[in-house]
Amino acid sequence: MNQINEDVIILAIESSCDETAAAVVKNGREVLSNVIYSQIDLHTVYGGVVPEIASRKHIEKINQVVDQALKNANMTLQDVTAVAVTYGPGLVGALLVGVSAAKALAFAAQKPLVGVHHIEGHISANYIENSELEPPFLCLVVSGGHSHLVMVKDYGEYEILGKTRDDAAGEAFDKVARAIGLGYPGGPKIDKVSREGNPDAIRFPRAKVEDNVYDFSFSGLKSAVLNYLNGCQMKGESFSQADVAASFQKAVVDVLVDHSMQGVKTYGMKKFAVAGGVASNSHLREALTEACRKNKVTFYHPSPVYCTDNAAMIGAAAYYEYIKGVRHGWDLNAVPSLRLGERI
Ligand code: KG4
Ligand code: ZN
Repeated sequence: MNQINEDVIILAIESSCDETAAAVVKNGREVLSNVIYSQIDLHTVYGGVVPEIASRKHIEKINQVVDQALKNANMTLQDVTAVAVTYGPGLVGALLVGVSAAKALAFAAQKPLVGVHHIEGHISANYIENSELEPPFLCLVVSGGHSHLVMVKDYGEYEILGKTRDDAAGEAFDKVARAIGLGYPGGPKIDKVSREGNPDAIRFPRAKVEDNVYDFSFSGLKSAVLNYLNGCQMKGESFSQADVAASFQKAVVDVLVDHSMQGVKTYGMKKFAVAGGVASNSHLREALTEACRKNKVTFYHPSPVYCTDNAAMIGAAAYYEYIKGVRHGWDLNAVPSLRLGERI
């Protein structure tokens, strides 16, 4: 790693899905500003993110959000060391807005440009509030688009132990929430309503994937919930929204905790972290806290604001890329299916 004597100030941009976000981050760990414009209300009426609407809103908001981030940090573009941006994975039209804005800003101010992987950002959110956290550690990344169990070997060096074969954990939350009439986004709503329900009321399946103990599969669970609801309807019976939510959530949490702790034990890990939108789920946090305590592992998790999409996490990840010497050219493009650890 290059020796850096001066503070590294990163202006980071994130627009991979339905949040238009910009942040200013100092030395990878200190957030000087973190501005998020959430489009959730716009997409709620459609029951999920509409890519075209997301792109158009990003275009409308991006300059405003970047200006606000610089203003809140008491800085101008000239004060930053580099400009960073999520260039994949995500919705191509949405990513392109952030990538184009970052290239224009970096070019205009003659600053280095650093492209960041969205999942690397989620993982790096853990560095923000845990100054002592350093690799190696095991990280469970659970968001609307991803469910990965990742070995963080070093900064920017990852090995994916397991991932979902079908739906991501957050996607399952959103689909089940819609089926039981809770609306979008489902995760926070299921989290809340579950507090009133009995998690043992209905025994939903916990899927095991044959050839990789660390892989996940949530589509069978989603079907089991839909079958249960259909069964109730056919028998003319009502169902308890809270019981279905709590029982579904327990099935997801059990699998996530089980796979994570299996990884911790097999690899003899002493540190475990969680990241992504679903990482703000209160039941998952409680269960992981308890499991880590039992296994004598230190548990790290970001605050909810750094779990869901934000640009501070991109600034944290970008710092470690920057000091490694990673720079992107003016030909940086959005890569919707960028793999973790891959640099294009
Ligand atoms: O990381 P994120 O903001 O976007 C992606 O990269 O996908 O994650 C969004 C996902 C959504 O599926 C949302 O329902 C879920 O995270 N989520 C939650 C909670 N808060 C957000 N899922 C469960 N419990 C929560 N409290
Ligand atoms: Zn995300």
